Amino acid sequence: MNPSSPSTPLRLGVCYYPEQWPRERWRADARAMRELGLSTVRIAEFAWSRMEPEPGRFEWDWLDEAIEVLAAEGLQVVLGTPTAAPPQWLVDAHPDVLPMDAQGRVKTFGARRHYCFSSPSMQAASRRIVTAMAARYGAHPAVIAWQTDNEYGCHDTLLSYTPAALAAFRRWLADRYRDIDALNEAWGTVFWGLQVRDFDQIGFPVGQPTDPLPAHAMDFRRFASDEVVRFNRMQVEILRAHVGDRPVLHNFMGLFSDFDHHALGESLDIAAWDSYPLGHVDTAARFLTEPERQQWARTGHPDLSAFHHDLYRGIGHGRMWVMEQQAGPVNWAAWNALPLPGMVRAWTWEAFAHGAELVSYFRWRQLPFGQEQMHSGLNRPDGVLDQGGLEAAQVRAEIDRLLEVGGPQALDPVPARVALVVDYPSLWMSQIQPQGADMAGFGLTVRYYSALRRLGLDIDVVGPADDLRPYALIVLPGLMHLPVSLTRQLGELSAVVVAGPRTGSKTEHLGIASPLPPGPLRPFLPMQVRAVESMRPGRQYAVLAQDDAADANANVAAEPIGHAQQWRDLVEPAVDVPPVLRVHDRFEDGWPARVSHGVWHYHAGLVDDALLQRWMAEAARAAGLNPVALDPQATGLRLRRRGRWQFAINHGPQTAQVPSPEGAIRLLGDATLPPGGVAVWSWPETA
Ligand code: GAL
Repeated sequence: MNPSSPSTPLRLGVCYYPEQWPRERWRADARAMRELGLSTVRIAEFAWSRMEPEPGRFEWDWLDEAIEVLAAEGLQVVLGTPTAAPPQWLVDAHPDVLPMDAQGRVKTFGARRHYCFSSPSMQAASRRIVTAMAARYGAHPAVIAWQTDNEYGCHDTLLSYTPAALAAFRRWLADRYRDIDALNEAWGTVFWGLQVRDFDQIGFPVGQPTDPLPAHAMDFRRFASDEVVRFNRMQVEILRAHVGDRPVLHNFMGLFSDFDHHALGESLDIAAWDSYPLGHVDTAARFLTEPERQQWARTGHPDLSAFHHDLYRGIGHGRMWVMEQQAGPVNWAAWNALPLPGMVRAWTWEAFAHGAELVSYFRWRQLPFGQEQMHSGLNRPDGVLDQGGLEAAQVRAEIDRLLEVGGPQALDPVPARVALVVDYPSLWMSQIQPQGADMAGFGLTVRYYSALRRLGLDIDVVGPADDLRPYALIVLPGLMHLPVSLTRQLGELSAVVVAGPRTGSKTEHLGIASPLPPGPLRPFLPMQVRAVESMRPGRQYAVLAQDDAADANANVAAEPIGHAQQWRDLVEPAVDVPPVLRVHDRFEDGWPARVSHGVWHYHAGLVDDALLQRWMAEAARAAGLNPVALDPQATGLRLRRRGRWQFAINHGPQTAQVPSPEGAIRLLGDATLPPGGVAVWSWPETA
């Protein structure tokens, strides 16, 4: 099979910056890319100043040639619109392009992402460059896909505090509320006498002596999210008019939730994302402990990349690419570890296992100058293939061998039976009012994901508006606010539902739910949360197995089965319904830790990983699923099925025994996997 055919289900690519290298090098680079087995090259996403060196004067000859050189080697091009790097002339002519920080300081020219989404000058200039680029290359046979901008929000640039943003925020509020009294009511401005008489009196929710109104902060987050969604849609609409049926995508980031990715994804054909497993371990300080960061420093956390693969597959309507794959040390974390040999290969296989159609490495060659000179590539600065490049070549050879044995139809998707719901506005709520310094909605979500994955389950990470009918188990990990449509849909299903602490606790304006939490879930969970408690690090409550339905004598000697940390809800049965709530486990002081009613389960605290896994295993069995007992000594072993193929990846640090179902044909790897090891086996026809 031709590796560059778009129908090849497992493709490898690379990010390349022809403008940063002498033209004489391009041909040799393109040849070497082909020889390495790459099929796709992403270019141009920061090259605005080379495409339009002066306002309205375009220079295309270099880009024409770069595309031709790549195409001559049979390589396919993904073209990036260059709006992440506005040129100096634009900023000089229109200083309002530049964003401002929360203190009102202008962020200056001299790096990238120096623009405010609300700037009319930026919008006009972006429209012009995207139109010109699309008109020139939209129908080019070598250009197979388009990327809009680059990593919206990177370097903390989503929120901007310019006069243009303020005017747009006021307009947004006027559209939403129409009447200023409706806003006063929704925000609760009577608190501390914060009533406003006109939309023009409203400022940014920053700079106050203490917290601004939560609803004010929440609406600013919604507004800022809508601004980037609108900016992106503007680009997508221009592209669509020129590019035919070539897919349009954006490269999202990991560990990032500043805008509603589901809303932005609506206009895209594919969600791509940039996977930096080691960089993410180093920067995930808010929800990985220091020992965890030590443990996974050279392999990446076993669930973080997988979580994002599953998240973006959902955002991309089933289509996901890894647009940038870490291939060696990065330059941007506080500490930049060297991947354990074998990990670049393992990450690549893991992305494919989770449905990636393309894994594209960042970058072709390490650049000996500029801000990212310490960032590795597939090749060293002297042009010699680096460890990442060697592993990419190994994956290429393995793909060819596996596809020969299995054929591409071996990879037809098998639907997951477990859905984990992620809702961005709920994540903002947990940032605005954490109520416990270490309570991060994102971290809580990943903990639940991790518990499910340690049970060998395949998971879809879905949005609140997605169709939940295909799932046997639906997990709501602390969704603080539930959109009405989601509650309605959940009520119509018979799936097992697990709600984490804080679920349904807030109104859309970030007020306390009425009736008391779990608010809209009361019809299904006849309980109320009468108080909540957050716990500083080191404080915990033991959890005892004390099931209402169990033999009373068994309770006397109950041993702790785990501990709650960070958070707990004090749950009591609802007073207005018959006492049907079943308590499964209790905290040491008698408050329920886990309750259920029919298929509905509620976790009244954040518990340690082992206990959460035990709870999720029970829920999975109740849903008719088959959680697998993975090798308990192998903390880094994870499984994922794609089509007929079952993948096992060992993120280490110990060797792992891979479960071997009867009749399975082993295609790659052995039953014992070393750290960084990958095994693939094919399920028998009947499984
Ligand atoms: C990404 C970005 C790339 C490059 C890379 C380095 O965030 O999209 O342009 O900077 O990081 O790891």
